[in-house]
Amino acid sequence: MADWKHWHIERNDNGVATVWVDVQNQSQNTFSAAVLAELSEVLDDLEQANTDQVILFRSRKENSFFAGADVKEFTGIETAKQAAEVSARGQQIFARVEALAPITVAIIRGACMGGGLEFALACNYRLAINASATRIGLPETQLGILPAWGGTQRLPQIVGLLQAIGMILQAQKLNADKAARIGLVDRVLEDGELEVGIGKAVGELLATGSLKKPPKKRTWAKWFVDRTAMGRSLAISATEKKIAPQLGHYPALGKALQAIRLSFVDPKKGYEFEREALGELILSPTCRNLVGLFLNKERARNPQTWEVPESVREKKIETIAVLGGGTMGAGIAQLAAKRGLKVILKEINDDCLNAARSRIQKSMDKLLARKRMSEADVRQQMDAIEFTTEWAPVSRAEVVVEAVPETMELKKTVFRELSKQCAPETVLASNTSALSVSEIADVVENPQRMAGLHFFNPVHSMDLIEVVQAKQSSSETMGKLVTLSRQLGKTPIVVKDSPGFVVNRVLMPYLDEAVLVAVELTARGQDLSQIDRELKKFGMPMGPLELYDQIGIDVAAHVAGSMSVVFGEDSVTSKILQRMTEQGQLGRKSESGFYRYEKSRRAGLADLKPFLADIELDLPQAPPTPLDEMMTPIQQRLILAMINEAGRCLDESVVPQAWMVDLAMVLGTGFAPFLGGPLSYAKQFSRDDLLQTLEQLAAVYGKRYQPAEALKSL
Ligand code: NAI
Repeated sequence: MADWKHWHIERNDNGVATVWVDVQNQSQNTFSAAVLAELSEVLDDLEQANTDQVILFRSRKENSFFAGADVKEFTGIETAKQAAEVSARGQQIFARVEALAPITVAIIRGACMGGGLEFALACNYRLAINASATRIGLPETQLGILPAWGGTQRLPQIVGLLQAIGMILQAQKLNADKAARIGLVDRVLEDGELEVGIGKAVGELLATGSLKKPPKKRTWAKWFVDRTAMGRSLAISATEKKIAPQLGHYPALGKALQAIRLSFVDPKKGYEFEREALGELILSPTCRNLVGLFLNKERARNPQTWEVPESVREKKIETIAVLGGGTMGAGIAQLAAKRGLKVILKEINDDCLNAARSRIQKSMDKLLARKRMSEADVRQQMDAIEFTTEWAPVSRAEVVVEAVPETMELKKTVFRELSKQCAPETVLASNTSALSVSEIADVVENPQRMAGLHFFNPVHSMDLIEVVQAKQSSSETMGKLVTLSRQLGKTPIVVKDSPGFVVNRVLMPYLDEAVLVAVELTARGQDLSQIDRELKKFGMPMGPLELYDQIGIDVAAHVAGSMSVVFGEDSVTSKILQRMTEQGQLGRKSESGFYRYEKSRRAGLADLKPFLADIELDLPQAPPTPLDEMMTPIQQRLILAMINEAGRCLDESVVPQAWMVDLAMVLGTGFAPFLGGPLSYAKQFSRDDLLQTLEQLAAVYGKRYQPAEALKSL
């Protein structure tokens, strides 16, 4: 037996050494410099021992083989040389793993990501446990870097060129089955029969020296791409073409592709390339911003950040009730059931209840068809939801989440009833997107237990929850909702109750400006799609007019109506959206919004002219500004509207710190992550250039561009 702080070797009489890892004081194993240094000592031991025939690498943590390198340490790297050394160190250690004489096997359960997979790739075999927590991938490009501990060299040789490109460039995370199908994992073990499965594999290895692998699917195309220079070069140039538009924002994609190519040509150069490329990429603004967001997400998930009282920190919520089983309610109920909570879903009548049930069932069926859920999972999760039209079951919930239609009267009626039906300590939360939570709380008895819990659509894939602090909410209530958000696997941002909270508030001036620009372009007879093109070029996942059509013009009109703080009472945008809504021009769902659609495909621009009647138009010329070299006039109008509103959120303490706005905007709207969020982006400019540009825009377009105070001290 040999022992280290994080590692431990156990040997039996049959020549099997099990190397256990359990990184102390962390829920996930990560490769910090210290953990790697210890692994080096573990390897000294393994290299010197002469009785081992099989070495198993296993984690003591149930849901984490290795989550990857310790991202916190990235921020301490100051020069390309230091980064290259970090890469070299990992490469050397994993080369020693690869060179071990005994047969090496990685036993994977839970996260096996980044450096974790690079470690497993250096072993002779990989066994993965079929559990929902098992996720295998090389997501480094998501942090703006490339796998640089040998991942780009070993993976393509194991799974082939095309799979490696997909896994590394798209940061795919595979479950055990999928990993086995592409030959990344040699055997899948069932969760309940883990030890038996491992025992069987070890027996086979001791007896025959190898593990029988399932036959690899061979296709002519795969042979052509993996085995011929011409096939490879065709695949690589096709990928180069595909990623070309993203390279300006995500240079890591190009570097990773080059490294993968070298793995087929000259691995020695490939390893060298990994080291140099890491050095270049890790200091790039893209990487700094992506790493910053990653670390801030961890911060937002830490209860201490939100001062969650000790009394509620460790106490898990077991039962929630959801009122309303529409788009949001059904999504919330399904997510809670998936995360192991008991759910009571209440609707107003049997028809609506059946509709809610079939909405959830359909969504699970889809996951079942895609093998993302098993039949047992579906049964278990459906059983976890109690569907009802009665109040009595709701009273059993510790937290009630209301997701009924967005009108103040209805919300008040519902909460008045809730405060009668539930015990005084039951936490009551509204999923309203734009109504005042404090005003709703006025009708609640013991209003300190009331707050907002603002989910985003679609609930299963949007990572953010705004936990809204009403004037009345107690710290215990806020703490319980932060805990619940964490239990649901989401990232909570605590925000003060104010119109639109953070995300809609900061997004709306951007969307408002998009309509104003669209109106001006229409009046001038120019092409509107220019707006979307320019904003996508800036880095937004979709253009603002496309976004309107996606969320629905009627929904946007409704939100705009309840956010007169941002829009002003006499808003042109509100008028246009209202008129479009009245004409049934609702966006994608009605096949016509800012664009026209045929069979759900875009078929050109819609005509805005009919909506401009009696709207007073002045058509100002865009002023020259100090930011002209960095952004087009349209980009400046839209993005600076957003930045300025983000500044106002700080001025009004909607959230206390800039990183919170940035993280919320990236997670809630997809704001260009490589820029780090609106306020991080604003920090790129000199203060004077930023303020002067805003003043100039204010002079031409109006006081909405008057610089927020917070921007003066960014
Ligand atoms: P929806 O119209 O799809 O669903 C509302 C459901 O509530 C319907 O099934 C209805 O039968 C039910 N309902 C009505 N009165 C009820 C009552 N007294 N008790 C129980 N159930 C009742 O609406 P959606 O989109 O799910 O929105 C719900 C809430 O979530 C709204 O406040 C909305 O602003 C908010 N929200 C919506 C988002 C979205 O993208 N749809 C995003 C974030 C928040």
